[in-house]
Amino acid sequence: HLQPVILSGGSGTRLWPLSREQYPKQLLPLVGAETMLQATALRVQATGAAYSLVDAPVVVCNEEYRFITAEQLRAIGKESKHIVLEPVGRNTAPALTLAALLAAKNGDDPVLLVMPADHVIRDVDAFRSAIAQGVPHAAAGAMVTFGIVADRPETGYGYIQRGAQTDDAYAITRFVEKPDAATAQAYVDSGDYLWNSGLFMMRASVWLRAIERFQPAMGKACRAAFDGGKQDNDFYRIDKAAFEACPPDSIDYAVMEKLADTPDLGIEGRIIPLSAGWSDVGAWDALWQVSEKDEAGNVTRGDVMLEQATDNLVFAQGRLVACVGIDNMIIVETPDAVLVADKDKMQEVKSIVARLKGQQ
Ligand code: GDD
Ligand code: MG
Repeated sequence: HLQPVILSGGSGTRLWPLSREQYPKQLLPLVGAETMLQATALRVQATGAAYSLVDAPVVVCNEEYRFITAEQLRAIGKESKHIVLEPVGRNTAPALTLAALLAAKNGDDPVLLVMPADHVIRDVDAFRSAIAQGVPHAAAGAMVTFGIVADRPETGYGYIQRGAQTDDAYAITRFVEKPDAATAQAYVDSGDYLWNSGLFMMRASVWLRAIERFQPAMGKACRAAFDGGKQDNDFYRIDKAAFEACPPDSIDYAVMEKLADTPDLGIEGRIIPLSAGWSDVGAWDALWQVSEKDEAGNVTRGDVMLEQATDNLVFAQGRLVACVGIDNMIIVETPDAVLVADKDKMQEVKSIVARLKGQQ
């Protein structure tokens, strides 16, 4: 069967002032009525596909967000007894290792569908068919990635080079996480590379075997943290000291980059193309891009009045925000902070957040 695993550990600093340490972006309703975590949990439905789905996801999140996470899942009927609480963040590879240990606990070996909690996918049907397409490959022991056509040299993504096509999937020739700008441009020009969407699918045992081989210290620390943990209502609390000792790393660096060069491990990489309006809404301009716009290209939320304004994103949480004659701006009003910024300078919001942190 297919077990959804939701990684819900990021903070989304580039979406300041809406996302905060106290309120990371996956817990916010940034697009539509559901929060990104809720949309992620709802997105995966078996809809007549050739696999049986475990409805309740395994969710891995920081213990600080346990109540709101449980509450948001309950509100959409996806209540889970498997919310794994991390006392500290150790990045995605340990988070997935904990989820795999939990899923494999009773001697089961489900196919894990690993989903970041903070992505937008507009075409849910296309997403579901890609998942259905990937299941047989993962069930047969492959490590499946979902690749997006790379149309600009984005340096915040992983790039996967397509190899030979077998049926409906491609082999992975190379996986390069976050290349520099020149390399990313060369990859885009070659037409041979796809972006890694951050969605993965593999059997629990396959992931654990890869970790044992590539990251033995991480594997050991995660096992100790898991074995020392305990169920507490809906939550699985892992052992803090053991997890603190775990080396941090991402799925991509820790395992995916190494897989293609290690044929003797016997785990093949597979790429399923994904064309489903995917976006990793990393920053405000990306959110504008994926949101529904009015005739003048504006995205608004809350009490907003616009005159002669085009292509803006304006969010008002409390006060009325009125804008006249502005184009291509991001304006986000919250009770204690207001962001006014050029839509083309969105990566710089990080610098503001860094300066704010420095002031604390
Ligand atoms: N539970 C948990 N614990 N989740 C985490 C942690 C952690 O310590 N760190 C990150 N996450 C979650 C984030 O919330 C996000 O949903 C997901 O894991 C991916 O982490 P990011 O930190 O957002 O990764 P990235 O965007 O830099 O890169 C990944 O995603 C890209 C596509 O968006 C990589 O997989 C890239 O290869 C990929 O292109
Ligand atoms: Mg991300």
